[in-house]
Amino acid sequence: MTTDEGRILQKKTSEIRETKINRHDFLTMKRNDVYVILDKINNGYNLGAILRLCDVTLVKKLFIIDGKNAVARKALKASKGSENWVPHEIIESGADCIQKLKSENTQIISVEICHDSVDYRKIDYTKKPVCFIFGNEMTGVSEELLNLSDHRIHLPVAGMSNSLNVSSCASVILFESIRGNK
Ligand SMILES: C[S@@+](CC[C@H](N)C(=O)[O-])C[C@H]1O[C@@H](n2cnc3c(N)ncnc32)[C@H](O)[C@@H]1O
Repeated sequence: MTTDEGRILQKKTSEIRETKINRHDFLTMKRNDVYVILDKINNGYNLGAILRLCDVTLVKKLFIIDGKNAVARKALKASKGSENWVPHEIIESGADCIQKLKSENTQIISVEICHDSVDYRKIDYTKKPVCFIFGNEMTGVSEELLNLSDHRIHLPVAGMSNSLNVSSCASVILFESIRGNK
Protein backbone atom coordinates (compact mmCIF):
# COMPACT_ATOMS: atom_id res chain seq x y z
CA MET A 1 0.00 0.00 0.00
CA THR A 2 1.44 3.43 -0.86
CA THR A 3 0.51 6.97 0.19
CA ASP A 4 0.52 10.00 -2.11
CA GLU A 5 4.20 10.50 -1.23
CA GLY A 6 4.96 6.92 -2.27
CA ARG A 7 5.87 5.84 1.28
CA ILE A 8 5.09 2.19 2.06
CA LEU A 9 3.02 1.99 5.23
CA GLN A 10 1.87 -1.60 5.28
CA LYS A 11 4.18 -4.17 6.87
CA LYS A 12 5.18 -7.11 4.74
CA THR A 13 4.60 -10.63 6.09
CA SER A 14 8.38 -11.10 6.48
CA GLU A 15 8.57 -7.92 8.60
CA ILE A 16 5.69 -9.06 10.82
CA ARG A 17 7.39 -12.42 11.29
CA GLU A 18 10.60 -10.73 12.53
CA THR A 19 8.80 -9.57 15.68
CA LYS A 20 6.68 -12.68 16.02
CA ILE A 21 7.11 -15.08 18.93
CA ASN A 22 8.69 -18.43 17.99
CA ARG A 23 6.56 -21.57 17.96
CA HIS A 24 8.13 -23.12 21.06
CA ASP A 25 7.68 -19.99 23.22
CA PHE A 26 4.15 -19.53 21.89
CA LEU A 27 3.11 -22.98 23.10
CA THR A 28 4.29 -22.21 26.64
CA MET A 29 3.10 -18.61 26.94
CA LYS A 30 0.26 -17.61 29.29
CA ARG A 31 -3.11 -17.42 27.56
CA ASN A 32 -6.06 -15.23 28.57
CA ASP A 33 -8.59 -16.55 31.10
CA VAL A 34 -11.24 -16.56 28.39
CA TYR A 35 -13.12 -19.64 27.19
CA VAL A 36 -15.47 -20.01 24.25
CA ILE A 37 -18.25 -22.54 23.71
CA LEU A 38 -19.74 -22.88 20.22
CA ASP A 39 -23.24 -24.31 20.39
CA LYS A 40 -23.57 -26.35 17.19
CA ILE A 41 -22.09 -23.90 14.70
CA ASN A 42 -23.14 -25.26 11.33
CA ASN A 43 -20.84 -23.54 8.87
CA GLY A 44 -17.20 -24.47 8.36
CA TYR A 45 -16.20 -20.91 7.37
CA ASN A 46 -17.65 -19.53 10.60
CA LEU A 47 -15.80 -22.16 12.59
CA GLY A 48 -12.55 -21.32 10.77
CA ALA A 49 -13.01 -17.59 11.38
CA ILE A 50 -13.69 -18.16 15.09
CA LEU A 51 -10.66 -20.46 15.45
CA ARG A 52 -8.48 -17.72 13.97
CA LEU A 53 -10.08 -15.19 16.30
CA CYS A 54 -9.42 -17.43 19.31
CA ASP A 55 -5.81 -17.70 18.18
CA VAL A 56 -5.19 -13.95 17.87
CA THR A 57 -6.98 -13.16 21.16
CA LEU A 58 -5.24 -16.04 23.00
CA VAL A 59 -8.43 -17.71 24.17
CA LYS A 60 -7.53 -20.36 26.74
CA LYS A 61 -9.75 -23.07 25.27
CA LEU A 62 -12.43 -23.42 22.63
CA PHE A 63 -15.16 -26.00 23.25
CA ILE A 64 -17.13 -27.06 20.19
CA ILE A 65 -20.48 -28.77 20.57
CA ASP A 66 -20.85 -30.54 17.26
CA GLY A 67 -24.21 -31.22 15.65
CA LYS A 68 -25.52 -34.41 14.08
CA ASN A 69 -23.84 -33.65 10.74
CA ALA A 70 -20.41 -33.31 12.38
CA VAL A 71 -19.57 -30.04 10.62
CA ALA A 72 -16.89 -29.16 13.15
CA ARG A 73 -15.13 -32.51 12.88
CA LYS A 74 -15.07 -32.22 9.08
CA ALA A 75 -13.95 -28.57 9.12
CA LEU A 76 -11.13 -29.27 11.58
CA LYS A 77 -9.95 -32.20 9.49
CA ALA A 78 -9.94 -30.11 6.33
CA SER A 79 -8.24 -27.02 7.75
CA LYS A 80 -4.50 -26.65 8.20
CA GLY A 81 -4.04 -23.53 10.27
CA SER A 82 -5.13 -21.81 13.43
CA GLU A 83 -6.53 -24.96 15.02
CA ASN A 84 -2.91 -26.02 15.65
CA TRP A 85 -2.46 -23.02 17.94
CA VAL A 86 -5.78 -22.98 19.76
CA PRO A 87 -6.45 -25.50 22.52
CA HIS A 88 -9.81 -26.96 21.54
CA GLU A 89 -12.08 -29.91 22.20
CA ILE A 90 -15.17 -31.29 20.53
CA ILE A 91 -17.67 -32.00 23.29
CA GLU A 92 -21.01 -33.78 23.55
CA SER A 93 -22.59 -31.89 26.41
CA GLY A 94 -22.52 -28.13 26.81
CA ALA A 95 -24.19 -28.47 30.21
CA ASP A 96 -21.41 -30.70 31.60
CA CYS A 97 -18.78 -28.31 30.26
CA ILE A 98 -20.50 -25.32 31.88
CA GLN A 99 -20.84 -27.11 35.24
CA LYS A 100 -17.12 -27.85 35.22
CA LEU A 101 -16.20 -24.26 34.30
CA LYS A 102 -18.58 -22.96 37.00
CA SER A 103 -16.89 -25.18 39.59
CA GLU A 104 -13.70 -23.30 38.68
CA ASN A 105 -15.47 -19.96 39.30
CA THR A 106 -15.80 -19.12 35.63
CA GLN A 107 -18.43 -16.51 34.77
CA ILE A 108 -20.67 -17.92 32.01
CA ILE A 109 -22.01 -15.45 29.46
CA SER A 110 -24.35 -16.36 26.63
CA VAL A 111 -24.13 -14.07 23.65
CA GLU A 112 -27.64 -14.00 22.24
CA ILE A 113 -30.53 -11.59 21.80
CA CYS A 114 -33.00 -12.71 24.50
CA HIS A 115 -35.92 -11.27 26.45
CA ASP A 116 -33.57 -10.46 29.31
CA SER A 117 -30.22 -9.96 27.56
CA VAL A 118 -28.33 -6.77 28.35
CA ASP A 119 -26.22 -4.54 26.11
CA TYR A 120 -22.72 -6.07 26.00
CA ARG A 121 -21.21 -2.70 27.03
CA LYS A 122 -22.87 -2.99 30.48
CA ILE A 123 -20.90 -6.06 31.61
CA ASP A 124 -17.60 -6.01 33.50
CA TYR A 125 -15.27 -8.36 31.64
CA THR A 126 -12.35 -7.79 33.98
CA LYS A 127 -13.83 -10.47 36.26
CA LYS A 128 -12.05 -13.57 34.99
CA PRO A 129 -12.19 -16.41 34.14
CA VAL A 130 -15.02 -15.84 31.71
CA CYS A 131 -16.67 -18.12 29.14
CA PHE A 132 -18.70 -16.89 26.18
CA ILE A 133 -21.27 -19.07 24.43
CA PHE A 134 -22.10 -18.37 20.78
CA GLY A 135 -24.95 -20.09 18.99
CA ASN A 136 -25.97 -21.83 15.81
CA GLU A 137 -26.51 -19.70 12.70
CA MET A 138 -30.25 -20.44 12.59
CA THR A 139 -31.34 -21.46 16.06
CA GLY A 140 -28.93 -19.51 18.27
CA VAL A 141 -27.81 -20.62 21.75
CA SER A 142 -30.03 -23.42 23.10
CA GLU A 143 -32.52 -22.65 25.88
CA GLU A 144 -30.69 -25.11 28.12
CA LEU A 145 -27.39 -23.23 27.86
CA LEU A 146 -29.09 -19.83 28.08
CA ASN A 147 -30.62 -20.93 31.38
CA LEU A 148 -27.28 -22.12 32.73
CA SER A 149 -25.61 -18.78 31.98
CA ASP A 150 -24.87 -16.10 34.59
CA HIS A 151 -25.50 -13.35 32.03
CA ARG A 152 -27.04 -13.04 28.60
CA ILE A 153 -25.69 -10.21 26.48
CA HIS A 154 -26.43 -8.80 23.04
CA LEU A 155 -24.96 -6.39 20.53
CA PRO A 156 -27.64 -3.80 19.83
CA VAL A 157 -28.99 -4.01 16.28
CA ALA A 158 -30.37 -0.79 14.79
CA GLY A 159 -30.74 -1.82 11.16
CA MET A 160 -33.11 -4.13 9.33
CA SER A 161 -31.07 -7.28 10.03
CA ASN A 162 -32.06 -9.18 13.16
CA SER A 163 -28.53 -10.29 13.98
CA LEU A 164 -24.88 -10.34 12.90
CA ASN A 165 -22.89 -13.19 11.49
CA VAL A 166 -21.72 -15.25 14.47
CA SER A 167 -18.01 -14.74 13.78
CA SER A 168 -18.43 -10.94 13.42
CA CYS A 169 -20.29 -10.94 16.72
CA ALA A 170 -17.58 -13.04 18.36
CA SER A 171 -14.90 -10.56 17.15
CA VAL A 172 -16.54 -7.68 19.00
CA ILE A 173 -17.04 -9.65 22.20
CA LEU A 174 -13.64 -11.33 22.38
CA PHE A 175 -11.70 -8.14 21.75
CA GLU A 176 -13.89 -6.37 24.33
CA SER A 177 -13.09 -9.12 26.83
CA ILE A 178 -9.35 -8.46 26.55
CA ARG A 179 -9.59 -4.68 26.45
CA GLY A 180 -6.82 -3.28 28.63
CA ASN A 181 -4.44 -6.20 27.98
CA LYS A 182 -0.97 -5.11 26.92
C1 LIG B 1 -27.18 -15.48 13.21
S1 LIG B 1 -27.26 -15.58 14.92
C2 LIG B 1 -28.58 -16.73 15.29
C3 LIG B 1 -29.91 -16.40 14.87
C4 LIG B 1 -30.63 -15.39 15.71
N1 LIG B 1 -31.09 -15.96 16.96
C5 LIG B 1 -31.75 -14.81 14.88
O1 LIG B 1 -32.90 -15.01 15.24
O2 LIG B 1 -31.46 -14.17 13.89
C6 LIG B 1 -25.93 -16.67 15.33
C7 LIG B 1 -25.27 -16.37 16.63
O3 LIG B 1 -24.54 -15.17 16.50
C8 LIG B 1 -24.56 -14.45 17.72
N2 LIG B 1 -25.16 -13.15 17.46
C9 LIG B 1 -25.37 -12.59 16.26
N3 LIG B 1 -25.83 -11.35 16.36
C10 LIG B 1 -25.94 -11.10 17.69
C11 LIG B 1 -26.35 -9.97 18.45
N4 LIG B 1 -26.74 -8.84 17.87
N5 LIG B 1 -26.31 -10.05 19.79
C12 LIG B 1 -25.91 -11.18 20.40
N6 LIG B 1 -25.52 -12.28 19.73
C13 LIG B 1 -25.53 -12.25 18.40
C14 LIG B 1 -25.30 -15.31 18.72
O4 LIG B 1 -24.38 -16.07 19.45
C15 LIG B 1 -26.16 -16.18 17.82
O5 LIG B 1 -26.50 -17.38 18.45
